[in-house]
Amino acid sequence: MTKMTLLGGLTPAQFLRDYWHKKPLLIRQAIPGFKPLLSLEELAALARDNHVESRLICHFDQQWSMEHGPLDTLPARDKDQWTMLVQGVNLHHAGAEALMRAFRFAPDARLDDLMISYATNGGGVGPHFDSYDVFLLQAHGKRRWRIGAQKNLDLIDGLPLKILKHFTPDQEFVLEPGDMLYLPPHYAHDGVAEGECMTYSVGFRSPSYQELAEGFLQFMADSVDLPGRYDDPDLSPSKHPAELPRAMLDTVEAQLRKITFTRDDITIFLGEYLSEPKFNVVFQGPDKPLTLGRFLQTAGKRGLKLSRKTQMLYRGKHVFINGESFAVDKADKAVLAILADARGLSGAELAAASDDVIEALFTWYTDGWLELA
Ligand code: SIN
Ligand code: CO
Repeated sequence: MTKMTLLGGLTPAQFLRDYWHKKPLLIRQAIPGFKPLLSLEELAALARDNHVESRLICHFDQQWSMEHGPLDTLPARDKDQWTMLVQGVNLHHAGAEALMRAFRFAPDARLDDLMISYATNGGGVGPHFDSYDVFLLQAHGKRRWRIGAQKNLDLIDGLPLKILKHFTPDQEFVLEPGDMLYLPPHYAHDGVAEGECMTYSVGFRSPSYQELAEGFLQFMADSVDLPGRYDDPDLSPSKHPAELPRAMLDTVEAQLRKITFTRDDITIFLGEYLSEPKFNVVFQGPDKPLTLGRFLQTAGKRGLKLSRKTQMLYRGKHVFINGESFAVDKADKAVLAILADARGLSGAELAAASDDVIEALFTWYTDGWLELA
């Protein structure tokens, strides 16, 4: 693997081995000459949209307050100590999407989103920790980061946001545009704007096992197949009519213990679960979709690309797209794996697609899951 400027001259393998999930890394000029991709006005417009997750955090008069979006009004730009955070900007902006995909040395199953924060002088979200790995890219202005390897992660009770009770930073740096800080999960940090600033966070996803277990049991509920019905041909007279009969428990236990699951069940569950769009994602198909014939003709020339909002994964014969899954043969899998990895297909690659794949692609096109390139 090649060395990446983005990773301070490390190869992804070196970065993953020495830093990922282990220790922070400050990368000066990870993206040399970086310019913000969105203006404050564009960011504020996203925060007003009710399909976009946003928060406004103020620290006025030593008091923390938090408001969830849509954010119709913001405090004045010349007022110190407030910050607006806009989640999932990659879903709405081509440049933000491309920036997030630069971090695909980690699998899509782990990449979460690109969040953008805007802060006025002194603004920030307070000393805290996150449960996820994060890359914090300075996009505009300066931010002073203080970080600490502390074990004590107790939080102050009764606040609208997570603020550490005891923050003991052991390193401090001021980031300028293009600089980036990687932090592993549970690493204490506090970033304070020095003048107006914007910070982009590339966040990763690590579902809790509880969340996965609940999702898996729901998934199994749809596919479980346990034939027969309870019966008791040997029923004996009840001495205590309200007591659950032991024989009934024995029989039901024996039946429920027949429920098993395979590696395939887990694969299908995980692929569907991780490719499921977030609750606020809406797809929009073309206003005037082409006919199948015209679609193929145009796609043959220009190629196809997945919509920014589409999440596509695969494993073995299973292909997952936006929470749906299906099993395919080897030839179809080859085409769909290119679509998922490259997030697009060239005209030549499309020429190799079977009728089944073309039918699926056309449906995804009309649903807004993919577009003509
Ligand atoms: C921010 O961008 O203000 C907060 C990012 C973080 O600390 O996780
Ligand atoms: Co944080």
